[in-house]
Amino acid sequence: MTQAPTTPPAASDSSAPKGLEGITAGDTTKSRVDGVNGKLFYCGYPIEPLAEEGSFEECVYLLWNGELPNAAQLESFTADLRRESTVPSEIWDVLRPLVKGSTQMDLLRTAVSAMSAFDDEVADTREAIDGRDEIERRIANRLQARISTLVAGIYRLKQGQKPIAARDDLTYAANFLYMVTGEEPGEYEERIFDAALTLHADHGFNASTFSARVTAATEADIYGAITSAIGTLAGRLHGGANMRVMRMLEKVGEVDKAEAFVDDVLSQPKGRVMGFGHRVYKVEDPRATVLRRMAKELTDRTGNSKWFDMSVKIENRVKDKKGIFPNVDFYSASVYGSLELDPEIFTPIFAVSRTSGWLAHVLEQHADNRLIRPRANYVGHGERDYVAKADR
Ligand code: CMC
Repeated sequence: MTQAPTTPPAASDSSAPKGLEGITAGDTTKSRVDGVNGKLFYCGYPIEPLAEEGSFEECVYLLWNGELPNAAQLESFTADLRRESTVPSEIWDVLRPLVKGSTQMDLLRTAVSAMSAFDDEVADTREAIDGRDEIERRIANRLQARISTLVAGIYRLKQGQKPIAARDDLTYAANFLYMVTGEEPGEYEERIFDAALTLHADHGFNASTFSARVTAATEADIYGAITSAIGTLAGRLHGGANMRVMRMLEKVGEVDKAEAFVDDVLSQPKGRVMGFGHRVYKVEDPRATVLRRMAKELTDRTGNSKWFDMSVKIENRVKDKKGIFPNVDFYSASVYGSLELDPEIFTPIFAVSRTSGWLAHVLEQHADNRLIRPRANYVGHGERDYVAKADR
């Protein structure tokens, strides 16, 4: 039974907007999200040419160094990534008994956490020592290289297959697709996938990046920060949405059932159509604009327009009824679906890309650190007397 307060509730210091909406929680030089005009920039560069003309390796270099690489810098950075792509065999042994009862995101979270045991340099980074940035950049490189091998290998373990080692002659995007399917992708598929990776790389203080920064700000190490971030990305309101978009399309089944499906979801209390709405964008998410274009292009090439046509119908209906727009997760689902990737790997793919942003933010946080520790607005009981067990 609830006890009556003996004094009124404590006066609150200040109330915070629910979900911290509209609160600026710190500075960053990594990405700028313009929610009013629907624009996104990495270190000042608009995302569209980065995605459509650049490469994911260039994008990662930019986020970690603040400038685009010249040809020699890019070559050396790409070689560094390739060199570090092997996952210690013990990690696969850790994962095998967990495969049946875990999602791919669960396995990824566990694997990244376990990888710290096989990194000889990580212990040194748990103190704010001189030279930490240099060591952490090497760890960042290692983790970015291995996350792709891990995600592809985890997918294969779930299929009852063996992980495949990365090749030293493929780009980051091509290597990932190769490690998933065992076949070298075509140039066109590689380009589309590379662009999708770039589009997901960074996005201000989104929930998982904020998690990574909060963890890093306690002076915890990179593996701890990225493990936090993976746990946060998995949720259905964040990265977990892209897989659910594909499940939704599968459930709708036919293009001419799309509108009725939307009406049904929206008629339910708190009904959510996955892949729509955004905390910051009040107009269309610019990443969705590029991904819609890519999904259309893929459709035209393959001649299979089912997912795309269904998506357009859903988009128009949600816009008409709720006035909200697709976010990055909506058309990325049809892009990955058209590349014949399994929906269960969609969110782990998001993690492969966003690891670059998480790492950029951890390095940035450690370079000028202060503990992140906001206050809570207490709205519970006022002070009251303890009641002995026998008297409750
Ligand atoms: N379907 C139906 N209605 C929605 C949706 C949606 N997907 N998103 C927002 N709304 C409505 C919501 O019902 C509310 O309407 P009303 O004022 O009439 O009650 C209004 O829009 C504001 O919603 P909110 O939940 O207060 O907005 P939020 O800023 O707290 O949430 C969000 C943002 C992304 C969590 C939310 O839009 C959502 O749940 N979307 C579906 C999940 C999704 O696609 N997540 C991916 C987010 S973007 C990329 C990423 O982070 O992975």
